[in-house]
Amino acid sequence: MNQDELKKNVAIAAIDYVETGTIIGVGTGSTANYFIDELAKIKSKIDGTVASSVATAERLKGHGIRVLELNVVDDISVYVDGADESNKYLHLIKGGGGALTREKIIAAASDKFVCIADESKLVDILGEFPLPVEVIPMARSYVARELVKLGGQPVYREGFTTDNGNIILDVKNMQIMDPVEVEQKINNIVGVVTNGLFAARPADVLLLGTKEGIKTLT
Ligand code: 5RP
Repeated sequence: MNQDELKKNVAIAAIDYVETGTIIGVGTGSTANYFIDELAKIKSKIDGTVASSVATAERLKGHGIRVLELNVVDDISVYVDGADESNKYLHLIKGGGGALTREKIIAAASDKFVCIADESKLVDILGEFPLPVEVIPMARSYVARELVKLGGQPVYREGFTTDNGNIILDVKNMQIMDPVEVEQKINNIVGVVTNGLFAARPADVLLLGTKEGIKTLT
């Protein structure tokens, strides 16, 4: 089974977490895209979705799935999204696709966060994958210097603008021993919109696609 098949299987498994008559938060990326394709098959059962990126909203609409603004929604029963890395505590690194801020907002606003990933994403220590940080453009150099002081090696993501009009610094060389602390420290740098650590609000469930089947971590 290749990585795409593992991603597809885990997306299928996530459908079990979709409750009839509720609003579903939908993430961004290739695994989330498989979930959207599965959600399309049961679209009449849900009230609508909230999308974590323009790309996701387009894909949902392409399937004829209703997309709502977060501001008009009272309750999101479940948020389903992929990740770039997860540890066993379901602390995540996200933002490889650059949608981290909207993803974090929807995760915060959802009753349950179900993370879907292939088994390669489970790691002992977060930080092998460069940590994405969304930054207000004028603060880029200042924030980069502050990230160096924290032990990181920030790299400007060339030619990329987020859906919010900002830039991304991908921080290499971070051995993240205390994800909650690092998330907070980076968010405290003036000019940072948010960073891709999802530790203060981790996933509630991690569905991992493995060659032996779906593993569920809680
Ligand atoms: C996008 C994300 C994605 O969830 C993450 O990059 C994983 O992507 P994929 O499912 O394509 O492996 O955080 O901002």
